[in-house]
Amino acid sequence: MIRAIRGTRDLLPPETALWNFVEAACRDVFRDYNFQEIRTPIFEATELFARGVGEETDIVSKEMYTFEDRGRAESDRGTSLTLRPENTAGVVRAYIEHKMWERPGVTKLFYIGPQFRRERPQKGRYRQFYQIGAEVIGPTTAGSESPARDAEVLEMLATLLDRVGIQNWTLELNSVGCANDRPIFLQALREALKPVVGQMCYDCQRRAETNPLRVLDCKHPEDQPIIEKLPRIADYLDEGCKTHFADVRAILDAVGVPYVINDRLVRGLDYYTRTAFEFTHGALGAQNAILGGGRYDGLSEAIGGPKAPGIGFAIGEDRLVLSLQQQQETDAMVKKPDAYIAPMGAGMNKEAARLARELRHHDLTIELGDETFRLKKSLETAGKLGARFAIIVGENEAASEQFALKDLTKGEQVTVPRNQLAARIQSAR
Ligand code: HAM
Repeated sequence: MIRAIRGTRDLLPPETALWNFVEAACRDVFRDYNFQEIRTPIFEATELFARGVGEETDIVSKEMYTFEDRGRAESDRGTSLTLRPENTAGVVRAYIEHKMWERPGVTKLFYIGPQFRRERPQKGRYRQFYQIGAEVIGPTTAGSESPARDAEVLEMLATLLDRVGIQNWTLELNSVGCANDRPIFLQALREALKPVVGQMCYDCQRRAETNPLRVLDCKHPEDQPIIEKLPRIADYLDEGCKTHFADVRAILDAVGVPYVINDRLVRGLDYYTRTAFEFTHGALGAQNAILGGGRYDGLSEAIGGPKAPGIGFAIGEDRLVLSLQQQQETDAMVKKPDAYIAPMGAGMNKEAARLARELRHHDLTIELGDETFRLKKSLETAGKLGARFAIIVGENEAASEQFALKDLTKGEQVTVPRNQLAARIQSAR
């Protein structure tokens, strides 16, 4: 028996209807906010993530699916490739590669697709998972650094979650500073870590040297009391970052998007500057972040591009769907057949197929039976599938172009001419 790989899963109907609903709702919202779709490759050069996301992050140091290309051409051989663990680095790479700064204004892109991280699988955490994300990137002259961009993205997310039907979300907000104040904060962090780092986990001991900011993102419960006492970025922000953060909050207040400040929020990726955020939802338990994001003003330069400040987010679609399922009955989202066509007797499959083709042209959902089925079996099948009507197609019906239409919820049966069938079924919707 061959099974799906641990941490991956099949998404089956009826649940896939919910996924489609979520994606359609997000696409609607993206359109309202003038975002356009981008699709980047599932695998990229490993170096992109090492430089973009950061060597010392859990994602890059432990969780990537990395392999060597074994193509026959010399140029392919030995190239290290990685299944994308996230999509921001890929989008910014594409922005640079296609000189998208030449387009007017800021570039606003969204994406929907699978990402891969070798994490310990549990509820809401998979090794192949799906993200719905968006990025706003552009030259400074187009206003890409403006706090208005941050606030717009956050307000869009509030709208999106409301529209999808997520209740009681919390927006956690922080500013993680910038290239100016970061060295001063890191110095303070190193100093504060010196006397205590010996009591921390092995990763923290290493990171205290290589990338102390990552210590703040440690998930080990035993380390938390120590982390709690370490310096906070909020106390080290320079004037520019403080004003920027205050401006983001002022717009959120003005448009009525509620948030809480979480000055311990640092996020698990190295590229963040200034605004960082997560939306959480109680129904998710330990993996409660339904989405995360923030500003990344230096990412483009870190991967060899021009200065191109940006801000974005990624929703964990698996978690979004999970929250919806825990909140409400989602069965109603599954489209049931409008009608089940029951061919009665030898040769009637052909007539049934013709009728099904006609009705489907009228945008009706039609399920087809088989001429070997007896009437009883056809009606039972139609009932189990939740079809609203059954249409009986026997020799007489086909010859007279008059069909028996049985309403399976009311139990009534009427005879309807062929050219009125579609309208009749549609009117019952
Ligand atoms: P992230 O916080 O690593 O950020 O991931 C965003 C969301 O993806 C998380 O909040 C979570 O809902 C979902 N997620 C992450 N890992 C898993 C997993 N193993 N299983 C299920 N869901 C998961 C990013 O990926 C950034 N690229 C977001 C961003 C875009 N920042 C700026 N632009």
